[in-house]
Amino acid sequence: MADCTIRIKKNGSAWVSGSFTIEDVDGNAYPIEGDAFLCRCGASQTKPFCDGSHKAAGFESAPTVGD
Ligand code: FES
Repeated sequence: MADCTIRIKKNGSAWVSGSFTIEDVDGNAYPIEGDAFLCRCGASQTKPFCDGSHKAAGFESAPTVGD
C-alpha cells in the first residue's frame, strides 16, 4: 500500500513524498521512493514533473485547500 504525503506549494507544484507509484497514460508505472514535485500550472516541459516554469508563467494557485 502506498504511503505518502502530498503538500500543495503556494503558487507552485504539488510536493509528494514517501513511497508511491506514478502511472502514465499508457499504464507504465514509475515507483518513487522519496520526493516528486508534480506540475500544477501546465507550463512544465517535463510533465508530470515541475521544472520551475511556474515562476515565469506567473502561476497563482489560489484558491486552494484552506482558502
Ligand atoms: S508547477 Fe512548476 S512548472 Fe508547473
